[in-house]
Amino acid sequence: MPKLTFLGHACFLLEEKDQETLLFDPFITGNPLVPVSAEEIRADYILVSHAHGDHLGDAYAIAAKNDALLISTAEIADAAQGEGCRAHALHIGGSHHFSFGRVKLTLALHGSGIPGGHACGFLVGYGGKKIYFAGDTGLFGDMKLIGELNSPDLALLPIGDNFTMGIDDAVVATKFLKAGQVIPYHFNTWPLIEADPQLFKEKVEQQTETECIILQPGECHIF
Ligand code: NI
Ligand code: MN
Repeated sequence: MPKLTFLGHACFLLEEKDQETLLFDPFITGNPLVPVSAEEIRADYILVSHAHGDHLGDAYAIAAKNDALLISTAEIADAAQGEGCRAHALHIGGSHHFSFGRVKLTLALHGSGIPGGHACGFLVGYGGKKIYFAGDTGLFGDMKLIGELNSPDLALLPIGDNFTMGIDDAVVATKFLKAGQVIPYHFNTWPLIEADPQLFKEKVEQQTETECIILQPGECHIF
């Protein structure tokens, strides 16, 4: 069964026995809540949703050190190759089958942090499960379509407001996605994005069929 570890902010590590390890949005150095150092992290693939510093983070350094393949939009993949990393460019709506499973890039309503680029989210097939990682995004109606077409087992959603969805919009997103489980992220890293995950959990479980799991940085979820 896949194991998802929350490393604070929007960083997750997805692993399974005898399977490649995936790292999402590795903002490690400078993240006040992260329980590990960038040097300790082992990953085979690094998925980067956009190039803001709290997502691109240590991606190039970890990719270079681990000879990991960085998966992102064309603009970020190009930049990564320019930094000497191996990278695979996808773009929104496109998917590709990697050794562990299929990755599809989804829309995200957010800045790219890189000239000419778009922010994205990821739909990932891994260990027989479908995972939707929203990246940084506001609520958008096509999350309904993502839910209908993919029936995600697990959705990872930002709830911290200011830069992304806040709690109430993330509850609507959860309704749209009809995922089996949801885990909130992108909150409490700084005062500007303070949010109460317990309030999100209460609202999700009152208003939807989805189970909400709250992970503290360093905690993991097996699903
Ligand atoms: Ni951002
Ligand atoms: Mn962010």
